[in-house]
Amino acid sequence: MGAGVIERYAHWLPVGPGTPPLTLGEGDTPLVRSKVIEREVGAGRLFFKLEGCNPSGSFKDRGMVVAVAKAMEAGYDTVLCASTGNTSASAAAYAAAAGLRSIVLVPDGAVTQGKLSQAMAYGARIVAVKGAFDEALAIARRLGDGYAVALVNSVNPHRIAGQKTAAFEIVDALGEAPDLLFIPVGNAGNITAYWRGFTEYRDAGLTGAAPRMMGFEAEGAAPIALGRPVSDPQTIASAIRIGNPASWRGAEQARDESGGAIDAVSDDEIIDAFKRLARTEGVFCEPASAASVAGLIKTAKGGADLSGATVVCVLTGTGLKDPTFAIQMAGVEAEQSDADLESVASLLRLPQKVAGA
Ligand code: F0G
Repeated sequence: MGAGVIERYAHWLPVGPGTPPLTLGEGDTPLVRSKVIEREVGAGRLFFKLEGCNPSGSFKDRGMVVAVAKAMEAGYDTVLCASTGNTSASAAAYAAAAGLRSIVLVPDGAVTQGKLSQAMAYGARIVAVKGAFDEALAIARRLGDGYAVALVNSVNPHRIAGQKTAAFEIVDALGEAPDLLFIPVGNAGNITAYWRGFTEYRDAGLTGAAPRMMGFEAEGAAPIALGRPVSDPQTIASAIRIGNPASWRGAEQARDESGGAIDAVSDDEIIDAFKRLARTEGVFCEPASAASVAGLIKTAKGGADLSGATVVCVLTGTGLKDPTFAIQMAGVEAEQSDADLESVASLLRLPQKVAGA
């Protein structure tokens, strides 16, 4: 444990003796049983896959460690990506660990402070592109084609290969695949990667079946659910504010081959799921991550019978990625007190301890 995904899953990855053994201890994230939402949606068993526990705070690290190791192997000294924030944080972290330079293109003004602060701390060169993520990605792809940089967006197949290890871990932990997997969809690399992981394990006989893949976009940024690109995507969940996903076809394939669905949830549904996760489960995720649970709640409200079903919701990033959102949602401020016992005790009005109790 703690060995990282390249060492643990080498057999399943495009790595060989020439691949540097890069790791920051990614993967092996908790699969936590729900305490309250499971009952509310009437699921047989509900688990949360806490991908925010990865080294840079999101699932991106699983794919990034492979992509950066392969970039080193190929002799690159610079990695490049476009990002709504998490990919840039992860690319910058692994580039730093590998001794490479990183360049990240971000949509100007549309990335949370938490994510930007990471890219800055890890030493990335940050370019704020005056446009949306989709435009930044188009530029990044052309830079990757024409210049001496390794493109580490999920159009790089090594990213998808690394990210599929999350599906392996779920099967390894449960002893079988879940019946349903709920997952947020942005650029659609992750749903593509999970489907690959489940089907590879199934084809190898390590699980009998693969889950139905339930992908959820945000309503204002729901190209796949709508069936057409969205030119001005809008949602509070900035990580998935994407109008023309690169892995569109991979997501459709996951949906169609698994008998699943790709649907959209509103910002209000995302906020409700975010609050329920934090307050009733003790799980703090970023808004985009809550789209998976919002999707589960919507599916249950729509009349789906989940009794007897094993369900996994992927929580893709930690809540610390977006503290501004969390503070706004809580709508409270710390209560002020003088620094003495009397003041704090009288403010709290706690009952006295009963003698002998
Ligand atoms: N959740 C979080 C927290 C994300 O950061 C992303 C994507 C997704 C879900 C969606 O995953 O793109 O594979 O469908 N973030 C990318 C980025 C776009 O640049 O960090 P996807």
